[in-house]
Parts: sequence; C-alpha cells; structure tokens
Amino acid sequence: VDLYEKSLVDRISHKDLISILSCQDEVKLDSIFKNAYQVKSHFVGRKVFLRGLVECSNICALDCYYCGIRKSIKSVPRYRMSSKEVVQGAVESWKNNYGSVVIQGGEISSPEFSDYIENILKEIRQVTGGELGITLSLGEQSEETYARWREAGAHRYLLRIESSNPELFASLHPPKQQFDTRLEALALLKKTGYQVGTGVLIGVPGQTVEDLAGDLEFFREIDVDMIGMGPFIPHALTPMKDAIPDFEQRKEEQLLLGVKMIAAARLLLRDVNIASTTALETLSSDGRNRGLLAGANVVMPNVTDPGYKVSYTLYDGKPGTGQTSDEGRINLEKSIASIGESIGYGEWGDSRHYFNRISAADNC
Ligand code: 5AD
Repeated sequence: VDLYEKSLVDRISHKDLISILSCQDEVKLDSIFKNAYQVKSHFVGRKVFLRGLVECSNICALDCYYCGIRKSIKSVPRYRMSSKEVVQGAVESWKNNYGSVVIQGGEISSPEFSDYIENILKEIRQVTGGELGITLSLGEQSEETYARWREAGAHRYLLRIESSNPELFASLHPPKQQFDTRLEALALLKKTGYQVGTGVLIGVPGQTVEDLAGDLEFFREIDVDMIGMGPFIPHALTPMKDAIPDFEQRKEEQLLLGVKMIAAARLLLRDVNIASTTALETLSSDGRNRGLLAGANVVMPNVTDPGYKVSYTLYDGKPGTGQTSDEGRINLEKSIASIGESIGYGEWGDSRHYFNRISAADNC
C-alpha cells in the first residue's frame, strides 16, 4: 500500500517503520521520501519555518559521552554570553524576519542561571514587542524554573531524550544522568504549557532499527509537538571518538539513516514540526535539503557570534564557523528556493500538533 494513503487513514505500523528504516533500495527509498513529503504538504504545508539559533553558553554540568562540550573536556574555552549579546542575537533574528529564536546552551541549574534567562526573555519581549517566537533548549530544570521562563515569554522547549531505550541511554551517559529524570523533565515541560520537542541520536553504536522504531513510537506515546534529531558524529575529544570505525567512509550511511528517520517520523506523526538539523548539514552540503524533502519543515540558522561559535562544537566539522550570519542567510534562502519550498518569514511557525492536541483536550 501507498504509505501516504496509509498515513492519512490508518497510521503506519511498527512493521512499516522497520521496513522504512532498513530499506536499502534506492527506488523504494525515493518513493518513501516522496510519500513523507506528501504527508508534510498535507498536514503542515510546504513552508519552512526558521529559528535563529543563539548558542548562549557552552558551560555544561553534564558529561554525555558523545558531546564536544561535555564537562570533562578541559581544553575547550568556556563562555557565557552577556544578556545583551543574547538579546542582540534574538533581535538580529527578528530583523532578518526569521520569526523565532532558539536559545540553546549547556545545562546549568542555579538560581542565578534562571534569573539570567528570565531577564533575557523579558528583554526580548520588550524590544520586539512580543513579535518574536522563543524556543529554549537549556536542559533539565526545576518545574519552577520552567514555569518562570514560560511566564517570561518562552513558548517552546526542546529536550532530547537521546534514546528511548533506557539501556542504550545508559551506555551514552554517566550513571548520574538518569533516563527517568529526563522523562520527568519532559512531563514537567508539558505540564507547564510548553510546546514540547524531543529527539534522539541516530546511528550510535549498539543501536538497532528496533531501537529507532521504538524512538518514533516513544515520540507518539508522549505526544510531542516537535522533533529535532540527527545522526551521531564523533568528536575527537570525547570517549566516543572511535565509536564508528571508518567514519569518513560512512558519512553517507549516517546521513541516510537520519533522513529515513525524518521520513518515518513524518509518516507516523503527521502534524508535528520536524527540524532538518545541523548534523545533516555537517555530513553533506545537501543534507539539509534532503531532510526537508523527506518531511522536515524547520531550519535553525545559526546566528551565534563567530567568536563564540568556534567553542560550541558539539561534534567535529560543525559548519558555518567561517561565515557571517548574513552570508549564511543568503545561502540558505537560495538553497531552500532551489528545492521549491518557501520560507515562512516573520511567522512563529508553531507546531500544528500542539493546537490539535490542545483543542482535542478541550473537547472532552
Ligand atoms: N553528534 C551528533 N549530535 C550530538 N549532540 C551532542 N553531541 C553530538 C554528536 N557527537 C546533540 C545531542 C544534544 C544536541 C544539543 O546535540 O543530541 O541533545
């Protein structure tokens, strides 16, 4: 059966997910991606929403085995932008008509950090007259902090589960970082009224297609509004630097798995926002567009000041470190136009799924 039709009427099955993720046949893959693109057109339109990404700090209390800003790495210069610099990044996004900003940073929980972000949010709201959509991606925080930031103007939050298989999660993180705590944080975000996004690392050692299908089913089970996920890319200063032997030769494989996950997520979840992430772009210059053509509808152009960007290397080869955000914007526009998509300039591009689930809850 046609996966598009199936996705519309009776939802694709576990078996379908497995066959999408393990498909190696180019012709079949092409039709899967086209079907996912049809589902995207049907449920969320052929528009790409932009969020300017401000990487406000690379100071992190966590020690994820894969990550280039993990706490144990002593040789990375650590920074935290001043509030003014973060607000500037947001204002630049607003002036570029990006519609939204994402404020992302290493995970720090302290009353001082909560105040820092709260002040930034209030300032952005004031300067832009509340016109700019705001997403946060700042890790696990207390319910009170989530609520304060929500109150101060943030309305979307990204917190990746990294893997929905607790055993795989445990193999990627030190014992102090618990799977259950992450789950609780996702529940708190929902409770405090955010549009909630999550995602996973794709193509980590020991991960099977069953795990990946399980990740997609997990997204559906916790009823998330947004997905941001990307292929694992080794970072030379981390314990997982050699986790994928011959990584250079296997980039296309990693990229393809990432694109298949996007297509499968779109077919299964239909009306959520899905980002075509930087990791795809890192693996190939056409990675971002391949993501969009397989069902993604969000892109996050980096607007972090180049002086800081060089220290925010989550993985090796993260792109754009050598170009200004203006050059980046012009290239991005051309590239998106070349695949026939339009850009939702000035729009928040909120998750349709969020509104659908809110109104469903109102009706019962
Ligand atoms: N490869 C790919 N993605 C990574 N992230 C961190 N390190 C890597 C890596 N080596 C992702 C994590 C995190 C997000 C901010 O960046 O999934 O949630």
